[in-house]
Amino acid sequence: MDLYPRRPRFDWAATPLHWVPDDAWTTHAYNALHLLLPAGERWMVRVFKEALPSVQDEELRATMRGFMGQEGSHAAAHDAFVRQLAADGIDVSGALRWAEWGFRRLLGPGIMPGWRRERWLAERLALVAAIEHVNAVLAERLLDSAELERAGADPTMLALLRWHGAEEIEHRAVADAVYQHIDGSYPRRVAAMAVAVPTFVTHWALCAYGLAAADPVVGRTTGWGKVPGWCEARTTFALADGVRRGLIPTLEVRAMVGYLRPSFRPSDSGSDELARQYLNAVADSFRMPRQAQTAAASSAQAVPCA
Ligand SMILES: [Fe+2]
Ligand SMILES: [Fe+2]
Repeated sequence: MDLYPRRPRFDWAATPLHWVPDDAWTTHAYNALHLLLPAGERWMVRVFKEALPSVQDEELRATMRGFMGQEGSHAAAHDAFVRQLAADGIDVSGALRWAEWGFRRLLGPGIMPGWRRERWLAERLALVAAIEHVNAVLAERLLDSAELERAGADPTMLALLRWHGAEEIEHRAVADAVYQHIDGSYPRRVAAMAVAVPTFVTHWALCAYGLAAADPVVGRTTGWGKVPGWCEARTTFALADGVRRGLIPTLEVRAMVGYLRPSFRPSDSGSDELARQYLNAVADSFRMPRQAQTAAASSAQAVPCA
């Protein structure tokens, strides 16, 4: 697999605060990802760097470097949008510090004693593989759906989410290959998924709640920011409605159960073609100057599954 970092540039100047029009909650459901993903992506890069000396296969090493370059590029793109959120009056510093602390400290190499380091690395690689599978499942739905366009979502944001999503689909195979190369234990793979899904869903929901409460429009005008219980209930209802309307992708049961099969292989899903189609369709726009990229992003559409 030939992975290399693409470096699209997104201009957020024209992106409204509620970039899904009249839908602050769907907007913040995605904005929560902007807060969580960069810390997670930088963590994956560190885990892969730690694993590199144990990988003798030159081809796999090259793919791992491509993976790391892409994750760095994703994190930088999300960070740029987070700065825009702060400029729009939403204080996200607490959530960012929390995410960075969790990934650096709780999931860092230093938390385990020396004799357990090797197994800890295998456990974290199993977590990377599980997270990348979750990312790929969500990304497939995002690439395959035109619901956000129909809702009038900001085209620049759609371009960011779909570019990232398409590269995540490719990452699933790399993460699995590295895990199989270093360890490959089936119980560890299943245990990692059992930890990854509830942890991801809980933190994602908490970030979405926090963003809705801190929103200078819906948070202040209704006072929900001052009544966290009501804000969470209202946000949960609104997020469920976003899922029902197909605006927020969910974890498809079949894809998740498939991961738990001992014979699971990433190539079983067959969605790499979907990712390649999208990346080929927008490849030229990545070489354009910033303003032209934004214009090209406006014309990029969802790629329907063949
Ligand atoms: Fe990523
Ligand atoms: Fe990834």
